[in-house]
Amino acid sequence: MKALILVGGFGTRLRPLTLSVPKPLVDFANKPMILHQIEALVKAGVTDIVLAVNYKPEVMVAVLKKYEVKFGITITFSVEKEPLGTAGPLALAREVLGKDDSPFFVLNADVTCEYPFEKMRDFHIGHGNEGTILATKVEEPSKYGVIVTQSNSTRIERFVEKPVEFVGNRINAGIYIFSPSILDRIELRPTSIEKEIFPKMASDQQLHTFDLDGFWMDVGQPKDFLTGTCLYLSSVAKRNPELLAPASEEYVNGGNVLVDPSARIGKGCKIGPNVTIGPNVVIGDGVRLQRCVLMEATHVKDYAWIKNSIVGWHSSIGRWSRLDGVTVLGDDVHIGHELYINGASVLPHKSINTNVCEPGIVM
Ligand code: GDD
Ligand code: MG
Repeated sequence: MKALILVGGFGTRLRPLTLSVPKPLVDFANKPMILHQIEALVKAGVTDIVLAVNYKPEVMVAVLKKYEVKFGITITFSVEKEPLGTAGPLALAREVLGKDDSPFFVLNADVTCEYPFEKMRDFHIGHGNEGTILATKVEEPSKYGVIVTQSNSTRIERFVEKPVEFVGNRINAGIYIFSPSILDRIELRPTSIEKEIFPKMASDQQLHTFDLDGFWMDVGQPKDFLTGTCLYLSSVAKRNPELLAPASEEYVNGGNVLVDPSARIGKGCKIGPNVTIGPNVVIGDGVRLQRCVLMEATHVKDYAWIKNSIVGWHSSIGRWSRLDGVTVLGDDVHIGHELYINGASVLPHKSINTNVCEPGIVM
């Protein structure tokens, strides 16, 4: 089977992390975001993956080459000269996506869930129409694409992208499966699949929805990245609890703590709930961590306190310092001792030696 992952854009909403690493390679639960998707696609029998990109960062090519070998799949970079939106990239990749009659998946790169690819494929083949959109329910639908179905049916009646007025709360989860005939609807030019293609498919009775079971999150911005991490960890706790730190560990407080085996944790720490600790992280004594992400090789010194924050690669937090309020530290940021940092977004390679009490960007 085939799949295309939409990885366009510069990930501006996930800065400062994306100043150092392309968004799909930002670690989510200790693994590049895109690897979660690739692994799930491979498990569902996908062997051909197209990455639709606006530019071709060398680092991404190198990382993905490794996955090609590891999983025995083909990964093609489809590079756009100008951003083609969310539909144009399908036309650009026509050669791969349309090479046979089998349906293909399309994924937004910034969504996380328990990917139900096999079930979607069976459902899609079962109804025999052109497209299936994975749907989930949210409380605040206005920043998503909203799906309205015909009564007592999975067939979509209307698709409204970013509605200004309330039309419903079942939204597009950003994961689709299409039959190759969809390619006849898409020209090679910047096109929004949500605004230009879905409404037409719906009026042609060619679009169905498949409801997702379980959690879902678009993790394209820091606040949602943290929420998505919590949801993901809760789901791991149900499905594969052995991957999480056992409750018997002295430092575990409230569960859902994911620790890379190479991390070192000091004495008398209280960690959890909802924490991910990456490779080669060093944590001092008496550290308190909750609802936070520590990326590779970060150093948290004695008695520091971190909540609702993301600590980027190779950064350090001084003794007795306190991070809160969706603080995000870029790569190689150093926070001094006994400081309070609230809601700061700190650019890579900065050292901070005074309190930051109000949310904002620190350049
Ligand atoms: N290759 C390529 N080229 N990819 C693009 C381009 C482009 O020009 N523009 C956007 N993308 C990719 C993004 O990288 C992302 O993976 C995906 O397309 C969706 O773009 P976002 O910018 O993240 O859109 P959104 O989050 O506002 O809305 C979309 O996702 C929601 C679910 O999270 C829509 O599909 C909504 O309908 C949906 O509910
Ligand atoms: Mg998004």
